[in-house]
This record gives sequence, C-alpha cells and structure tokens, in this order.
Amino acid sequence: MTDHLVIAIDGPAGSGKSTLGRALAGRLGLRTLDTGASYRAVAALAIRRGVALDDLAAVASLASSARLEISDRVMIDDIDVTEEIRSEEVNAAVSVVAANPEVRSALVAWQRRWADEHAGGIVEGRDIGSVVFPDAPVKLFLTANVEERARRRSEEGQASVERRDRMDSTRAVSPLTTAPGATVVDTTEMPVDEVVDLVLTMVDAATGGKR
Ligand code: CDP
Repeated sequence: MTDHLVIAIDGPAGSGKSTLGRALAGRLGLRTLDTGASYRAVAALAIRRGVALDDLAAVASLASSARLEISDRVMIDDIDVTEEIRSEEVNAAVSVVAANPEVRSALVAWQRRWADEHAGGIVEGRDIGSVVFPDAPVKLFLTANVEERARRRSEEGQASVERRDRMDSTRAVSPLTTAPGATVVDTTEMPVDEVVDLVLTMVDAATGGKR
C-alpha cells in the first residue's frame, strides 16, 4: 500500500467527484485518478472484442492482461477509448463488468500501482476509502439528490444513472458504501469552492499543515 498522500473520494454517479478532484489537484499539486475510467475501459474492450459480459472468466482475463493508461486520454491495449467509454453502450455494460470480482482485483492492483508511481494522488470511485486505500488520511463520500445528479448527467439520462446506482450499491463485492472514517458531503446545493475549502481544511488537519 502506498505511503504517499491519497485523498479518497467516493460517491454515486453525478455526485461531483471529478469536479472536486480537478479543483483539488490544482490546489494541492497532486494528480487525479478517475477509477471509473478503468472499469469503463475494460467494458469498452469487452464490447470491441465481442466478449459476453456474463462470461466472468473471459472478461476477467481481459482485465488482467490489458495494458491500461489513464491520463488526459484513456488507452487500453494501445486503443484510445477516451470518447467511447462515455457511450450509451458502455454506460449499460460498466456496472456488470464492475461486479465481476476478478475484474475488481485486477483493477484495484493497477490503481494501487498508479498511486505508488505517482507519489499519491486524488483517487475517485466507489470503493476507494473502503477497499482500495482504507488507510487514506482523507476520505470523502459525496452525495447529491438523484434529480440533481441526473441533471449533471443529462446526456446519460436518469433511468441509466438510477440503474447503475442500484447495481453498484447492491453488488456482492465492494458495493458503493460510506467507508469507515469518511466525511459525507451533500453537494446538491453546495458550491464547488465551499467543498474545496472544506477538504483543504481536512487535508491540513491530516498532514499537520504540511501540504
Ligand atoms: O462518472 P460516474 O460517477 O457517473 O461513473 P464512473 O465513476 O465513471 O464509474 C462508472 C462505473 O464504474 C460505476 O457505475 C461503477 O459500476 C464502476 N466503478 C466501480 O465499481 N468502482 C470504482 N471504484 C469506480 C467505478
């Protein structure tokens, strides 16, 4: 597990994780990792290769052998899937792929390596504070009401957002849940600047002001 500073941000679709992550990155000089993009990239590759999503072993083998790169662009096995991972097809497939336990262990290992290689960072997802970095000194769980979250994901639509929420919260392995020690922040009406200030205060408290 990484010794570097990791800020764990979890929450359902459209709760404001990426917006907060981007704003914090500038203030803290840390990189951000959108772990959702790793699950989306595996889903996109499975679709491209015609692998049935219920063939757990085949999808898991894709996840453990694929070469993944996530920065400004998202690449898997040297294929640029940056736009494709936001498609309707991937929205519909990703929560099925993410419920596959062996896909999760392969991607969690990759996410931990990423944090080691980048000297920590702001990591967002569903199980970051609970499973990937349970010792992270700063853990946030963002929420917002479903109407607001669907508005933020208007191109996806409320039905698809609710379906992913349901699958992500009820799956057997690493379901979306508030991690022990996480601070819950409702972003429905809270301006981004206020959330950023709150988190910076938490970072100062956790690092003794040495950020
Ligand atoms: O951006 P949004 O919050 O809508 O979703 P995302 O972060 O791109 O994640 C897409 C999907 O990946 C989620 O609906 C989960 O099924 C899965 N996921 C996960 O299981 N664990 C994570 N740490 C991150 C995402």
